[in-house]
Amino acid sequence: MATRREVLKALGALGAVGASTALSPLKAFGASNDTSGVASFTQPLNIPPVLTPTSTTSSTDYYDMQVLQTSASIIPGKSTPFIGYNGMTPGPTIKARVGRQAVVNVYNGLPATTLGGATGKIVTHLHGGHVPSASDGFPTDYVNPGSNRTYTYPNNQLPSTMWYHDHTMDVTGPHVWYGMAGFYLLTDSVEEALNLPSGAYEVPLVIQDRKFNTSGGLVYNKTMNGETGDVALVNGVVQPYFNVAKRKYRFRVLNGSNSRAYTLALSNGASFKVIGMEGGLLSAPVTVTSITLWPAERADIVIDFSGVAVGSNVTLRNTQVSSSSTVYNLMRFNCTSTATDTSTVPSTLRPLTRWTASQATVTRNFTLSGGMMGRNWTINGSTFNANTPIHSSKLNTIERWNFTNQSMLNHPIHVHGASFQILTVGGAAPAATHAGWKDVVVVPAGMGTASILVKFTDYTGKYVMHCHNLEHEDMAMMARFDVVA
Ligand code: C2O
Ligand code: CU
Ligand code: CU
Repeated sequence: MATRREVLKALGALGAVGASTALSPLKAFGASNDTSGVASFTQPLNIPPVLTPTSTTSSTDYYDMQVLQTSASIIPGKSTPFIGYNGMTPGPTIKARVGRQAVVNVYNGLPATTLGGATGKIVTHLHGGHVPSASDGFPTDYVNPGSNRTYTYPNNQLPSTMWYHDHTMDVTGPHVWYGMAGFYLLTDSVEEALNLPSGAYEVPLVIQDRKFNTSGGLVYNKTMNGETGDVALVNGVVQPYFNVAKRKYRFRVLNGSNSRAYTLALSNGASFKVIGMEGGLLSAPVTVTSITLWPAERADIVIDFSGVAVGSNVTLRNTQVSSSSTVYNLMRFNCTSTATDTSTVPSTLRPLTRWTASQATVTRNFTLSGGMMGRNWTINGSTFNANTPIHSSKLNTIERWNFTNQSMLNHPIHVHGASFQILTVGGAAPAATHAGWKDVVVVPAGMGTASILVKFTDYTGKYVMHCHNLEHEDMAMMARFDVVA
């Protein structure tokens, strides 16, 4: 097996080839001057198809997925090789219900070495899922090319916007960059009774930045700080447009990027409602004019287009960057029709009890550091060790985890196995949007701190916590912890 350093070297070499072929596409009128050369808002939004079970019983839906290296025309007239679940990126959406288990059999159809020079071994993780350890996608639970693995997702948890993605040790970054991600939407009858916008008016949106070479290939340079691109893709389409009616829409927005953060805002300055984040619905909607999403964070939002004139449009922007950036404009909503709207956004969504610091009976401290002079990223001074847990957490115990960031970059820390509540970020209580169930907490750079309260209630076994900047994760900012009875 290649050592971590060999893998990094191989990826670095390939990255350098990619970078030297960087191009300056002709700037057509209305085009965004990015490496795709695709004019802004000229491609329709793709909505990933919902995966049909191969069989069902009274308690279980069985699914089959194949991971394939294939290509598609992401840039008109060009062919882009990518890795897709069932040959598509994003992969098909799995729709699940609380109380019905989903069993997903994933077949690895990749070659021994896949795009970006990464190994063809894969691992599938359901991000946000409270699942048995054996089905969680531990980074060394490899599925070799030509093999398959069956993952059991019990769906005994709060409904939320989840996503599945690759989690292979050292190469999650390239695997996800080249396409390995898809939505998993869990619901229940309580949520349905809220009468939120649904059906054609409930749309998942995954935002990902990418880079392309002149022949249409994706370019991945494994950088210490995290890979970023200059092309904004939503649901795998370069700066798409989406035709909307004058009414409310629910968008389940996922930042599926390797390392870039986005601050989402509408070009007409309109406010929108945040109804949930990673772990499900908030207790009440929160009205905002922008929301920032770090990698793997999700925002469940409702945008009301009823005030937008038919024939006009609203752009979804990323105000994290300046207006001259090619990743400033993400997608455009074209208001093309009127529609009746009987949906509601109730003022009470799902009751949520906030834990208090005094309920924690265990306190753990984690320092986040590294990244200097090409050294790996670390948690408590250590790089990822798959064989040794950094601690064991007891089931059904509220623990307080304090993070201190000794490095100069933010770290969006993700914990497997449970959703948590944020106690403080930078010493302050979380914003109302971030006061519900979360599975990512951003620990601010430069000695910034964050504290969470977490309780594992479901399964014993090995799990991981890690930075969800995928290059930080691949460069070892990950730790195994065990849950014990
Ligand atoms: Cu989204 Cu450990 O992953
Ligand atoms: Cu996860
Ligand atoms: Cu990080």
